[in-house]
Amino acid sequence: MNKITIAIDGFSSTGKSTIAKQVANHLGYIYVDSGAMYRAVTLYAMNQGIINKNGFDVETLIKKLKDIKISFKFNKDLGFAEVYLNGNNVEQTIRSLEVSRFVSKVAAVSAVRKKLVAIQRNIGKSKGVVMDGRDIGTVVFPDAELKLFMTASPETRAKRRFKELISRGDDVVYENVLKNVQERDYIDSNRKDSPLIKANDAIEIDNSNLSLEEQFEKVLQLVGIAL
Ligand code: C5P
Repeated sequence: MNKITIAIDGFSSTGKSTIAKQVANHLGYIYVDSGAMYRAVTLYAMNQGIINKNGFDVETLIKKLKDIKISFKFNKDLGFAEVYLNGNNVEQTIRSLEVSRFVSKVAAVSAVRKKLVAIQRNIGKSKGVVMDGRDIGTVVFPDAELKLFMTASPETRAKRRFKELISRGDDVVYENVLKNVQERDYIDSNRKDSPLIKANDAIEIDNSNLSLEEQFEKVLQLVGIAL
């Protein structure tokens, strides 16, 4: 059967990755979490002191980009590929609220985007890929056969994210999670390079009131049409 490219974009914590993983597993496609790549670069900048309490030294990050190696390795037990930063598994570390606080600033740097978009295009060059992010349908794969744009109210999204962080044992306050979701949406939607916008040919899915099963069914129907 013909393989296609599925681009899933949308605001923070709209459940993009959950549905993307499910669909990829069902179709036997590769799933790529592009946000994890921006998070890994942010973690690198934090570990190197490029981001610290005095601010963010953009020029140093740009100089060090050549030293950053991002890769994915499939974890059979989890059923998806985990992200590695210079050979270290950082799948868990990159999900902290600390990383979330800075990631949108790092993702607004064009040199960072250029590097990561090249890796993303390379992974997806043979199709059979489900990739989620903010610019997948607009910039990374403008020719994707199926483009989805996920939305949900900020409160619904912050509640989901809060639950996720609490369940992994992080000590977070709901109001801070909501604030972070809103701040990231603002920066992601207003940056100059590749802002978060719905591609003209993307299909919008508001999942505020949809169960996972309902979303999965809907997406599979759309895949059936696109194939
Ligand atoms: O998807 P996730 O919420 O983990 O993404 C973290 C951040 O990475 C986003 O808030 C955004 O700033 C950035 N991002 C991006 N382009 C993508 C994916 C993520 O700018 N394709």
